[in-house]
Amino acid sequence: LMVYFFLFSCDVMSGTSSAETYVVSFLCFEMFCSFTQKYPPVKFLSEKDRKRILITGGAGFVGSHLTDKLMMDGHEVTVVDNFFTGRKRNVEHWIGHENFELINHDVVEPLYIEVDQIYHLASPASPPNYMYNPIKTLKTNTIGTLNMLGLAKRVGARLLLASTSEVYGDPEVHPQNEDYWGHVNPIGPRACYDEGKRVAETMCYAYMKQEGVEVRVARIFNTFGPRMHMNDGRVVSNFILQALQGEPLTGSGNCLNLFLLFYSDLVNGLVALMNSNVSSPVNLGNPEEHTILEFAQLIKKLVGSGSEIQFLSEAQDDPQKRKPDIRKAKLLLGWEPVVPLEEGLNKAIHYFRKELEYQANNQYIPKPKPARMKKGRTRHN
Ligand SMILES: NC(=O)c1ccc[n+]([C@@H]2O[C@H](COP(=O)([O-])OP(=O)(O)OC[C@H]3O[C@@H](n4cnc5c(N)ncnc54)[C@H](O)[C@@H]3O)[C@@H](O)[C@H]2O)c1
Repeated sequence: LMVYFFLFSCDVMSGTSSAETYVVSFLCFEMFCSFTQKYPPVKFLSEKDRKRILITGGAGFVGSHLTDKLMMDGHEVTVVDNFFTGRKRNVEHWIGHENFELINHDVVEPLYIEVDQIYHLASPASPPNYMYNPIKTLKTNTIGTLNMLGLAKRVGARLLLASTSEVYGDPEVHPQNEDYWGHVNPIGPRACYDEGKRVAETMCYAYMKQEGVEVRVARIFNTFGPRMHMNDGRVVSNFILQALQGEPLTGSGNCLNLFLLFYSDLVNGLVALMNSNVSSPVNLGNPEEHTILEFAQLIKKLVGSGSEIQFLSEAQDDPQKRKPDIRKAKLLLGWEPVVPLEEGLNKAIHYFRKELEYQANNQYIPKPKPARMKKGRTRHN
């Protein structure tokens, strides 16, 4: 089709100057692109309102939904990701769009680009992922955050840190408000993440006080929804996958109460916080409480599964309960969760069902290739 357009334009322009031919060819090419590439609808924003926004970890679960929102709002979005837990598939529907850029980059290395806002989300989020390589988790949250704050300082951008309710550790007060300092084991298996995020918050406020960088800190509580990692390892994905596969639903005996936020509520909260004048930390979570048994029964009902429910012993340092106090977000941002649990779960179940089908249809067993050797050199594996 493209070749056809080119020949057509040359034909139309025969007898005209080469510059005119080029212009018509280019317009035909643009027409071709607009016919063949379908992007989700994007609002038009004037230059004054359109922001250049960097999202680190933008190919992950939360980051890709945030990318969708900011793109559809009409901003220019650059996603930076090293694809440790994220994947291109989460943002592929934007590739080629003039407002979108995807950079394969590790935030542990400095980055030099021009932006107005930075949503700093790069970090594995689920325990199996952040415990997989604790040193890397620490580097990402410390050196990575320093690099992003350095960038914010250089270009005068505002930075929002995706912090976590894990900064409260295994809390001694319920619910947790933002003034609670937390109860964290600094040498336990979760410390690489908990302490990494705590020091990331410290860095934000050091840059704010010493260098005048504008910072926003979101303390995010357990969030779920489509595009979650298949081996996220937390209760929502575990129960849904187990129910879909007819296996027993296995919950940790200690984690008796659940507070679950749907991703779209979180994304709205992050954007509201970024564009507010609230520079102190803000909890974003859902205070609606469900017991793990109620939750397991709900999943079974929604999936239509006959799986049995089993409780396992707790993992080391599993928090007993973490309930967000969201009065500050309500008061200062006018934000609160609006998506009912059942509605969110139906969307998550649909996603996990499709992912299982996708995996079943794409079983790929790589064939070993003979090693290619350069003449005269031995190959060291
Ligand atoms: N999902 C939740 O329930 C939750 C709760 C609290 C806090 N958070 C925070 O929100 C953020 C996003 O979480 P998520 O659930 O989308 O997790 P995710 O694992 O799906 O996304 C994290 C993204 O960061 C990328 N990344 C990791 N290390 C990187 C590095 N060194 N350089 C560049 N990219 C890197 C990953 O590849 C991935 O795309 C994280 O900072 C997490 O700590 C999430």
